[in-house]
This record gives sequence, C-alpha cells and structure tokens, in this order.
Amino acid sequence: MNTIDLSGKVAIVTGASGGIGKAVAITLASAGASVAVHYGHNKAAADETVREIESLKGKAVAVSADMTKPEDVEKLFEFVDSRLGTVDILVNSAGIDGPRQTLGNDSIDEWQKVISVNLFGPYYCSRMAVQRMIKKHSGVIINITSDHVKIPWAGYTAYCSAKAGLDMLTKTLAQETADKGIRVLSIAPGAIKTAINKTVWEDPEMLKDLDNKIAMGVPGDSKDVANAVLFAASDLASYMTGTSLVVDGGMLIYPDFRHGG
Ligand code: BGC
Repeated sequence: MNTIDLSGKVAIVTGASGGIGKAVAITLASAGASVAVHYGHNKAAADETVREIESLKGKAVAVSADMTKPEDVEKLFEFVDSRLGTVDILVNSAGIDGPRQTLGNDSIDEWQKVISVNLFGPYYCSRMAVQRMIKKHSGVIINITSDHVKIPWAGYTAYCSAKAGLDMLTKTLAQETADKGIRVLSIAPGAIKTAINKTVWEDPEMLKDLDNKIAMGVPGDSKDVANAVLFAASDLASYMTGTSLVVDGGMLIYPDFRHGG
C-alpha cells in the first residue's frame, strides 16, 4: 500500500493563515511533517491553524514575515532552523490578487505589490530553501501558481504576470537543482473557494458565470489542492520535477466548447 509518511520532515508553508495554505499546512502535518505556519498579518488565524494541527496530534509553529522583504524571509528561515530544523519541503502559497484594474485605471503601487508578494516572495523563500537543501542533497519546493499561468484575465495583469513568472521560476530552478537532489514543482489551482474569490462565489449571478467556466461545474475546495501538494511533496513524486499539476475541475479544457464551436 502506498501511504504517504512525512514524519521527520520539516515543511514551511507560506500564507498558511487561511485558504489553500492553511489546508496545505494541515494536510502535511497530518502526514507527519513538522510545519511552520507562515502568516503576513493575521496572527490569530495562523494560531488557529496551529491549534487545528495540534488537535490532530501534529506539530506546528506560527511565524510571521513580510514576503516582500528579503531580510524578513531570512529571519523566517533562521527561526524555523532553530525551532523545527532545516526545511525539507517549502510550499510557496502566500499570494494576493490585488484590485481589479485595467491599464489606465491602475496604480503602479498596487501592481508592484502583487508582483512583490506573488513572485519576489517565492524567489526570496526559494533562495533560503535551496541554500539549505543543497547541503543535504534533498528537498522539494512547491509553488502554488494558477490556471492564470495560461488563461489571460482582464483587470489582473499583475496577477497573471506574477503567476506565469512563478511557473517559469519553477522550471528554471528545477533545471538548476535537479542534480542537487532538489525537486521543484508548480501546482496550478483553478477556482478554489477561498477568501480571494469570496465576492464571486457569494454572489449567485457571478457564481453561475464562474461555474460555467469549469467543466465539473463547481469551484474546488482548498483540500483538493492540498492533496496534490501532499503527493508532490512525497516520494511518490520522486521522479517529477520542473512541471505542473493542474487542480481546476477542468477549467483549462474550455468547457464552453461542449456546446458547438
Ligand atoms: C484566482 C481566483 C479565481 C481563479 C479562477 C485564481 O488564480 O485567485 O480568484 O477564481 O483563479 O479564475
């Protein structure tokens, strides 16, 4: 039987105070990993993730860092070194979409912020992780990207650019580290019900429009993504690097084409 056992492994999950990151943290901890639950601002929510992990007899610590500041990220990794041990699994899940703004009605500050959190953040974290993983010739880095690596999305140029960049970071870093015992993968979610798209799934009309874009007809759950991360982080995926797993209920297979074309 192929059960996944991550005991003895140390995982850092960014953006684990809610949404996909939270589900990933709980899932990895349930498989035995010690988990650093990173948060940006919401300490209470990160503490709640830790409590949920502890109630499942798992091990976790909450730790904050501003993903846009390399010195903050460095401190995060040093904290984890001292509290849990050196990282084996890094999951870059922290992300924002920013306000919907088309060019001309946009703000340069907002654009930079989205790129900073969604692309520079994973880059800073990956630098810290690779330094450590090279020494033990082992480690996995998983980047949470999006269907919007492929699907353009008006009003979200920064988000789409950052996610497409993150996917290329995955592939290039995988190429750099494949002979160093390190695997780098992307997981690309479609519409997953979290706070990021709450305004859409809470509005019946907007939800209907979203459902029509998904072959399976409904948005996914964070757990669906967490299960893919669990697989990618495990030895079951030991021959996989530099590629992406799509978890989107068939958003990328153009469901509208069922009806003629
Ligand atoms: C976004 C969600 C959106 C989904 C599908 C994700 O990357 O964060 O807000 O629902 O893509 O468009």
